[in-house]
Amino acid sequence: MTIVEVLKLSADYLQKHGSDSARLDAEILLADVLGLRRLDLYLRFDRKLQEDELAAYRSLVARRAKGEPVAYLVGHREFMGLDFEVTPDVLVPNPDTEVLVQRAVAIAREVGAPLRVADVGTGSGCIAISIAHYAQNTAVWASDISPQALAVAARNVAQHGLAGRVHLEPGDLMRGLSGEFDLVCANLPYVAANANLPAEVSAQPSRALFAGDGGAALVRELLAEAPARLKPGGRVLVELDPSILTAVADVAGHGFAGHRVHRDAGGRERVLEAWS
Ligand SMILES: C[S@@+](CC[C@H](N)C(=O)[O-])C[C@H]1O[C@@H](n2cnc3c(N)ncnc32)[C@H](O)[C@@H]1O
Repeated sequence: MTIVEVLKLSADYLQKHGSDSARLDAEILLADVLGLRRLDLYLRFDRKLQEDELAAYRSLVARRAKGEPVAYLVGHREFMGLDFEVTPDVLVPNPDTEVLVQRAVAIAREVGAPLRVADVGTGSGCIAISIAHYAQNTAVWASDISPQALAVAARNVAQHGLAGRVHLEPGDLMRGLSGEFDLVCANLPYVAANANLPAEVSAQPSRALFAGDGGAALVRELLAEAPARLKPGGRVLVELDPSILTAVADVAGHGFAGHRVHRDAGGRERVLEAWS
């Protein structure tokens, strides 16, 4: 079978098994098996697959059909135009989170002077690393309660050559981080315990997903803790789901001078920005 034939069959199969990005999934997995870039598949549509290539590809497509995220199958994921190692120990970086990073980078560029940034619940390190990469005036201290996640983040920090500017610390929320910050960023777990999730989401670590109080508990705790850790004029950016916005804005209304909400590319309320 040729590349074009295999892609058609596998995309149909993945779509029947519930993937809403079936063609893209099929292409990413095939490019991985063949050691090509995804777009190169289009230049070699008539190339025939060897038996061993087909066998390896079938196995990946079958795992994808059962709900394993593509990023876990190929071991990496693009976020903010950068490539991140991803394992089942970390949340798969999500494009919805880019709005938080873009706002953080805009703030950092506006300020211009050296900025101390915290990234709470860093997972793969995608937020901390992207901010440090795109805003040269930042130094980032990133925490996570999961030692396994921090090991993945450490490899990503090294891979992006940022060991001098992104520092990883184990700990609960900001307790492992010392000093005061100009900017505190966080994409903490905010899914309610009883949520009905698609297989590819529930395949991700539960401590990266779930929080008490209908999903609001950890974000609320951070917003209560953060004001004492901000420098004068400091800001907080937290990712949220629109369903917890009211509960979260209530805490922000007490500890901060003001707050506003940023929407993601799909128009949903996604990031709360609060200032001291
Ligand atoms: C939703 S994931 C986000 C990961 C990464 N920031 C991203 O945007 O892809 C949340 C992360 O917070 C970590 N976490 C959960 N509870 C925490 C806590 N109490 N203190 C610090 N980190 C925590 C999890 O281990 C997980 O890596």
